[in-house]
Amino acid sequence: MAPVRYSPAADRNKQPILDTLRRVLPDRGKALEIASGTGQHVAWFAQNLPQWNWQPSDAYVDGFSDIALHTQGLHNVHGPRVLDVLKWPWLDDVDAKFDAIYCANMIHISPWATTKALMQGAGQILSLHGILITYGPYLERDVPTSEGNQQFDTSLRAQNPAWGIRRLEDVEKEAVEAGLRLAQRMTMPANNLLLVWTFSAAV
Ligand SMILES: C[S@@+](CC[C@H](N)C(=O)[O-])C[C@H]1O[C@@H](n2cnc3c(N)ncnc32)[C@H](O)[C@@H]1O
Repeated sequence: MAPVRYSPAADRNKQPILDTLRRVLPDRGKALEIASGTGQHVAWFAQNLPQWNWQPSDAYVDGFSDIALHTQGLHNVHGPRVLDVLKWPWLDDVDAKFDAIYCANMIHISPWATTKALMQGAGQILSLHGILITYGPYLERDVPTSEGNQQFDTSLRAQNPAWGIRRLEDVEKEAVEAGLRLAQRMTMPANNLLLVWTFSAAV
């Protein structure tokens, strides 16, 4: 059976993201994906990082059959779970801790409150040396915004006035309030960034 939903963008960026994950993730661990969408990312990462155990999730169940199809046969991927970052606790096993949280393309395609909630939740659910990875476009004070991102921002705000590409300094403020700091900033194709957030106190 063919997947019901398929994202061409996720197919294009999954390999560059995987290449970067190989550089920032430890050899093995337990990862939570937030805002899994179609599940194409988690499927690719699980296939290529078999020492990692993956938990996909999304606020909405609409994509769960797609996630199941994309991850079929992968023994290191759990079934998708409902996780709305705005609703705490995120998971009913409240003591669950993750070595990595991966969240792509949610921050700008959801209201600002989700960014705060993402940082606060990550601060609760990451293990001490765990990392939060966010991927997507950002506006940066000292980096000119590409024409593509300017147009993308306009189109997002036209679809929903609460959406839009976020200023990295604002995202950083929310991270700091959750006890996290920006540890790495990697430039990615198509004017995206992959950001690694760690606990401020962790060495
Ligand atoms: C543009 S899609 C990104 C999907 C996938 N991560 C990717 O990069 O292809 C945005 C996703 O964010 C999810 N989302 C929006 N609000 C959310 C929330 N409050 N909590 C968790 N996920 C949310 C949507 O359901 C959707 O799957």
